[in-house]
Amino acid sequence: MALLEIAQLGQPVLRMRAEEVPPEEIGSADIQSLLNDMMETLIDANGAGLAAPQVFESKRIFLACVHPPEKGNRPEAEIFINPRLSHRSAEMDAGWEGCLSFMELSVMVPRHRSLQVDYLDRQGNERKLRLSGFAARVVQHEYDHLNGVLIIDRATSTHDIVKSSEMETVLAARHVDEEDEDDVGKTTLEIPK
Ligand code: NI
Repeated sequence: MALLEIAQLGQPVLRMRAEEVPPEEIGSADIQSLLNDMMETLIDANGAGLAAPQVFESKRIFLACVHPPEKGNRPEAEIFINPRLSHRSAEMDAGWEGCLSFMELSVMVPRHRSLQVDYLDRQGNERKLRLSGFAARVVQHEYDHLNGVLIIDRATSTHDIVKSSEMETVLAARHVDEEDEDDVGKTTLEIPK
């Protein structure tokens, strides 16, 4: 296994639509070692998810921590190949997200509260999961990477893009606002699909 270089904002691969993986290739040594290396890279970076385009592989593959951690251990990431999203809830929740391709920034992103993801696992088996909350958020973030979409594109205002180093100040300031407006931080938006 090997740690992979993580593509940083500005690399064209982050803006490309990734290609489907032919199911008969999933068992190949190339794909299996890519999956192992992505897993190692995700754990090393202490991330919640990692998409193949972020390691310069324009393939429809991502890893996402969608299961609750057991016994205080780090949650094991699920592998999603050729994922499809459906049953997206009309309810949206806004929350702060970061990205391993530009850790310097934090962005407030509205996401569907729940959804279904259909995908192939690393054995090529068809699987589906119904997810909500944090797990649904991570899957939407990683799925966006497969279409060249980044969290900075999802901000509803440029004011929702901040330096990660200033998050404490941002959260404190928004908390003060909340007392007046009661709308920021855990905003629930009703946005039609
Ligand atoms: Ni990301």
